Amino acid sequence: MAKIHVRRLIKNLTPVICFGLFFVLLTLYIYNTPVPLGRLQRLGWQSFDIVSYEPSSVVLPPENGPPEDNNTTEWWDVALEEETKPISLPLDVWSPLLPHHTGLTEIEIKPCLFFPALVTYCDPRTTLEDDALKGPWVRVERDLNAKTGRWYLSIWYRRSRRLDVPLITALLILADDEMDLLPEPKSSWHKAPGSLVDGVSSQKDLYLWYKVRLPLQDVSDDAEIQEAITEIDVLYGENRPLYGFERLDRDVFPGDKARKLDRVSIVYRRGVKPIPKPKPLHFKHDGTFKIMQIADLHYSVSQGSCRDTDLSPCESGDVETDSLLARALDAEKPDLVVFTGDQLNGQGTSWDSRSVLAKFAGMVIDRNISWAAVFGNHDSQQTDMNRREEMQVLQSLPFSLARAGPPEVDGVGNYVLKVRSPDPSKIHLLTLYFLDSGAYAKKGLSFWKPTEYDWIKPSQREWFLAESRAIKPIERPFTPDGVSDVGHIWNTSRQVENETKTLAKPNAMVFFHIPLPEAYNDPDPDTEEVSRFSVGQQLDGKGSPLHNSGFFEDAILNVKESVVGPTEVKIIANGHCHVTDRCRRVHGVWMCFGGGGSYSGYGKIGFDRRFRIYAVKTFGETIETYKRGEHGEIMDRQVLVGSGAPPPFKSK
Ligand SMILES: *[C@@H]1O[C@H](CO)[C@@H](O)[C@H](O)[C@H]1NC(C)=O
Ligand SMILES: *[C@@H]1O[C@H](CO)[C@@H](O)[C@H](O)[C@H]1NC(C)=O
Ligand SMILES: *[C@@H]1O[C@H](CO)[C@@H](O)[C@H](O)[C@H]1NC(C)=O
Ligand SMILES: *[C@@H]1O[C@H](CO)[C@@H](O)[C@H](O)[C@H]1NC(C)=O
Ligand SMILES: *[C@@H]1O[C@H](CO)[C@@H](O)[C@H](O)[C@H]1NC(C)=O
Repeated sequence: MAKIHVRRLIKNLTPVICFGLFFVLLTLYIYNTPVPLGRLQRLGWQSFDIVSYEPSSVVLPPENGPPEDNNTTEWWDVALEEETKPISLPLDVWSPLLPHHTGLTEIEIKPCLFFPALVTYCDPRTTLEDDALKGPWVRVERDLNAKTGRWYLSIWYRRSRRLDVPLITALLILADDEMDLLPEPKSSWHKAPGSLVDGVSSQKDLYLWYKVRLPLQDVSDDAEIQEAITEIDVLYGENRPLYGFERLDRDVFPGDKARKLDRVSIVYRRGVKPIPKPKPLHFKHDGTFKIMQIADLHYSVSQGSCRDTDLSPCESGDVETDSLLARALDAEKPDLVVFTGDQLNGQGTSWDSRSVLAKFAGMVIDRNISWAAVFGNHDSQQTDMNRREEMQVLQSLPFSLARAGPPEVDGVGNYVLKVRSPDPSKIHLLTLYFLDSGAYAKKGLSFWKPTEYDWIKPSQREWFLAESRAIKPIERPFTPDGVSDVGHIWNTSRQVENETKTLAKPNAMVFFHIPLPEAYNDPDPDTEEVSRFSVGQQLDGKGSPLHNSGFFEDAILNVKESVVGPTEVKIIANGHCHVTDRCRRVHGVWMCFGGGGSYSGYGKIGFDRRFRIYAVKTFGETIETYKRGEHGEIMDRQVLVGSGAPPPFKSK
């Protein structure tokens, strides 16, 4: 009986429900009038056509032979045509890596009690007319009071593409009693509302002044157009700013060592500074290519502190390490530098990733050396950016070859670099694989388990196998051809007559941070009394993850250079263990540690800081390695691959 009642009730109510629903939908339809097309596409003065910007990867010059010049122009020296596609970027997003060329028009400093991205009442006041003319307000997403003040304090600015608004060309920080320092003509200077030290105790109020000049339409000189300030950022610590930025002479906060507070400065960019790009990797004409591995820098926002060293004086670890690096780079003059992870110290001292990322490669960049990098377990630990965001900064640094790799593969920074022949054939002669070995294993709900290191994931193995499959065999050993093209460069008599050539993939090396479990296996048996298959020291405990995902067995040992040949990968290069620097051969594959190169990372008194060098010779056939210590000493020179190397591995 009850069932029938319910059914009847529903039956009776159906027209009512339908009627109600109809009105609800009608109301929604009427009120949901489509957004005007102009607003959707942001047409008009402030429109833009791209919203994200990825620096292009290295482009090889076109295939059609050597340049016209008969002389010494090399294929990698040919100036590549820059992408000439004009880009117009969104005006209402703060992203200092974008090559913005629109000038700023107005600045304001605003405090906020709450995180300003979540609330709108802290936004500067505006009108639709002002937005249209001077551009919408944009918040510089950096807190001036990050460590120093009681509440949030942000710089806001507008930028405009219009030709009829005055643009900002200079910035100055002044206190109210210093008005006589304001340069003439005083009338062209404007005070940005709001103090720069709002919320910082016992600080005299400081104000940001900006100078405006004529609108673009009244400027004839091209140089003057380049004068417009196009970006503002905040920098913490003593470090250099990102490429193209300059620091304002006066600090917002000078830093306080006793209270462990880092210096806070405003940095700005004028115009657009094209970031210097690395040249495509190539062997020299004498068949050499030198790689320097820099392991475990452990840099901080501050200048870092010295750990476990008898170097004296040693005030700040990062500064001392930079000068050590400078000496090593000048002595070795490598063709490529590889940072093998833990560039950032994590552990709370690299709390502002951007400031640290802008400095760690400074010595390499200053010398115009191309470099690549992988992440370690500390790089994204207790920092404000994840690995993907950090990689965007890495990619935008000068001479950087670092790449994020495919998004569907685990980790950030799985990529391949190819080193090519110096002759016009540009043959791929050496493969360098880079992998992200992760940080710490996710424990899920088992929070009581001890922390353990991450491992190389199956998706990375599949990616590695696919990349390797795509590499074509070459005639080995390589001898440069095209002799008639570049007559005087090649000494033709160096071509050996009876050399047997085989068809095989070029030798390969793999770089990642955390060693594989197999790095601790017994070395290959040797006939000599002193094993040639384990050279160097191991003063750390095991640094490998507990879990073995089979990367060594399933990928490294499985991929051969040819049908019958040895493995394609000859060397795996790791960092992670600062007082371990040995090279050990297991099943024919060398596993080498770099050894810590930084005073800011842990170490051991008596175990010099060091950098590992891989000196590749005879166009990739021979690979020698050694370490350069902090006193310039050369340690454990050994040939790993090719002529002069110990006998090849023979499986039973
Ligand atoms: C290159 O060599 C050819 C003949 O060998 C000559 O005609 C031409 O002018 C040379 N070009 C340059 C740029 O030297
Ligand atoms: C060719 O190289 C020589 C010496 O390297 C130089 O003196 C000469 O000017 C160069 N010629 C051209 C056309 O570049
Ligand atoms: C780096 O390259 C720039 C531009 O080519 C050059 O002006 C500068 O001298 C180079 N610096 C070094 C140290 O080679
Ligand atoms: C070419 O190489 C041979 C053997 O290495 C050497 O004897 C000869 O002097 C070289 N010739 C030139 C022009 O460099
Ligand atoms: C090349 O090989 C042939 C036959 O194996 C031999 O007779 C000849 O002497 C070799 N030439 C050189 C330069 O080694």
